[in-house]
Amino acid sequence: PYPLYEELRKTPVSHDGDGPYVVSTYYDIHSLLHDPRISSDAKNLKATGDDLLGDQSDEEGTTLPPSFLKLDPPDHDRLRRMTNRPFGPPHAPHRVHDMRDELGGLVSGLIDGIVETGQMDRIDLVDQFAYPFPVSVICRLLGIPREDEPRFHVWAETLAASLDPDPDADPTQRGKGSMDARMELGMYLAGLIEERRKNPGDDMLSQLATADGPDGAMTTMEALSTSALLLIAGHETTVNLITNGMLTLLRHPEALERLRNDPDLAIPIVEELLRYEPPVQLLPQRTTLSDVEVAGVTIPKGASVWLMLASGNRDPKRFENPDRFDPDRKDIQHLGLGSGIHSCFGAPLARQEAQLALSELARRLENPRLLEDPPQYRQNSVLRGPRHLPIACDGIR
Ligand code: HEM
Repeated sequence: PYPLYEELRKTPVSHDGDGPYVVSTYYDIHSLLHDPRISSDAKNLKATGDDLLGDQSDEEGTTLPPSFLKLDPPDHDRLRRMTNRPFGPPHAPHRVHDMRDELGGLVSGLIDGIVETGQMDRIDLVDQFAYPFPVSVICRLLGIPREDEPRFHVWAETLAASLDPDPDADPTQRGKGSMDARMELGMYLAGLIEERRKNPGDDMLSQLATADGPDGAMTTMEALSTSALLLIAGHETTVNLITNGMLTLLRHPEALERLRNDPDLAIPIVEELLRYEPPVQLLPQRTTLSDVEVAGVTIPKGASVWLMLASGNRDPKRFENPDRFDPDRKDIQHLGLGSGIHSCFGAPLARQEAQLALSELARRLENPRLLEDPPQYRQNSVLRGPRHLPIACDGIR
């Protein structure tokens, strides 16, 4: 249970002094996500602290133009459409589907790596599995040369650490470290985009660099902020979905056992996990473009609005027995991947990654058990997930 969210839902729109308007009930959040009077545009934002899926501007705000996550229509729609072209209909199911074998290979390789350590009495599912997996996936999707993948792991880690307000996080990873990482990543990607523009291959960077059609092509800067968005938005979120997923399954051994015998059960399990333990707990970066009335409260123009997705997912007015983890739940329109025009662009990929990861871990780990419950969490109010997930098992098939 999330007692704080339960308390919050008693006042669907809460507001204190200069703070944001915090919306915590399912139907109100859902309707605001579809309301054009609520802006995601970075330039309308007051400084409100937490950053959701990674602000790519440097301290002067000059490195990269905003990605489509932080734009309103029409720019949002134009860039998302152009990005979608290689990803989306009619290609999307193929592109993500085509990657299935590749993803399966990555999952097996990581589990084999754990076998090679010979240490079954203490496995960290974050460091040894969930953390490296999504970075490799994005690299394959973008078409990063294999030999450069290790550099991406370092950049992704540095960028993620710089978004983490945890005072215990390694201070060398903050400030200058993350600035350097952003600069290096930007320069690396810009070089690759230029190269692919001249010499396109069958990968997403080439598609972004050479896109044409009614919207024309992306500029190098737009392609750069889009590829950085894919890396940042698709990384820690997926790590947390897998880790929260294993944690939840280890706490519900009957569900884990069912998954072990039936890998197709991963599909409803992942949906229920996105409701029950969503990696993105809240969307703190919205601004009202005019006065908006919600649940009898007038949110004035220019106000900052926080949408508490995880609270909406536990709203008893929407879900029966919301605090119960139930993979057999019917009618599960959760808010875990957002909704409306900004709803998660990488959703099909995220689902596939988590389904494969969880079903393979369930199949291969013999008698897995938690060594710490609860585990230590990352101190981040937006992205929820354990920093480490130590487990033990009797063997690995
Ligand atoms: C947007 C969650 C994985 C790319 C979002 C949003 C959520 C979300 C809640 C809405 C943001 C908003 O409305 O402001 C998640 C979760 C994931 C995941 C929980 C993993 C389990 C991915 C992956 C990718 C990705 C793998 C890319 C390959 C994006 C992008 C957006 C987005 C580009 C912005 C969409 C837009 O502004 O139109 N995601 N995401 N996400 N996500 Fe994901």
